[in-house]
Amino acid sequence: MVASALTTILLAQENDAQLLTNNCAFCHMLKTPQFFELQNLTAPAIDAVVFHVKLAKEKSEEQEAFIVDYVLNPDVSKSICESNKVAKFGMMPSQKGKVNKKELEEIANYMLAGYLQGSFTVMIKEMQANDKIYALSNSPFLINSDSLPHFTKLLVLNWDKGGLDLGKKQKENLMKVGKETLRTVKCIKKKLKPLTDEVSEAMIDREDPKSIEKQLKKIAALKLEATRMHLKCIADTTAILSDEQVEYLLPFWQYAKTTVIQTIIFFI
Ligand code: HEC
Repeated sequence: MVASALTTILLAQENDAQLLTNNCAFCHMLKTPQFFELQNLTAPAIDAVVFHVKLAKEKSEEQEAFIVDYVLNPDVSKSICESNKVAKFGMMPSQKGKVNKKELEEIANYMLAGYLQGSFTVMIKEMQANDKIYALSNSPFLINSDSLPHFTKLLVLNWDKGGLDLGKKQKENLMKVGKETLRTVKCIKKKLKPLTDEVSEAMIDREDPKSIEKQLKKIAALKLEATRMHLKCIADTTAILSDEQVEYLLPFWQYAKTTVIQTIIFFI
């Protein structure tokens, strides 16, 4: 009895996988793309699609409904991926007539259940929430990311790639380092904000710069602390990785230096 129930489930899964392959794989890559494949994608990878759907819609019914509806009636105003996706790939053509609603519900369920690792989602979510922290224009660090690789971001980009081959324990430890860094830097940023506001107000009010010397010193101390945290994060991260893994990641940083934002947004 149990065995036959299991067989039924497995067969249903196989059927759903087939539906996804037949209807969506022509445009959407089903596996996580390798770095060199990014340039040749014709649509966001399914992993990326699922990531965005889960980010935008909280309930699983809403997520499913969104996918079913978008495939039949795509519209730029409904799009939950970054706007550059539509600009880059063009609108997804409606698949009406090629795939029916019932099949789509199965595809959507299969996608939502089978794609994206939980730990990956948590990490990207946190990265996105704290993204401003790392934006060059608003950085609390004394040394910018052109001079120092942002390992956490490089790792997010390459998390599940065979070439990097991160072990389970490594992933756990890396998540810890990433989280600790984000938490600390976020805290520093919070303290920086009122201080920089005070400086800016004083200058707008044409006060003597000497009057805000105390705030300046505090700002400097906080930025020093953030930079120390940044360096510690790099050291802790590279200590977890093997030499080969570090070597694998560094070219992505070299590449990202010229196309920082595009690469990251493109992938996720
Ligand atoms: C002919 C190519 C093509 C096929 C076939 C296709 N898609 Fe797409 N899809 C795209 C492109 C291009 C985009 C990115 C632009 C956009 O969002 O409209 C996209 C985006 C999406 C999005 C994200 C929408 C957003 O922007 O928020 C979802 C969800 C999606 N596709 C689901 C599917 C599913 C499920 C299938 C299979 C039933 C499928 N697609 C088949 C080309 C295709």
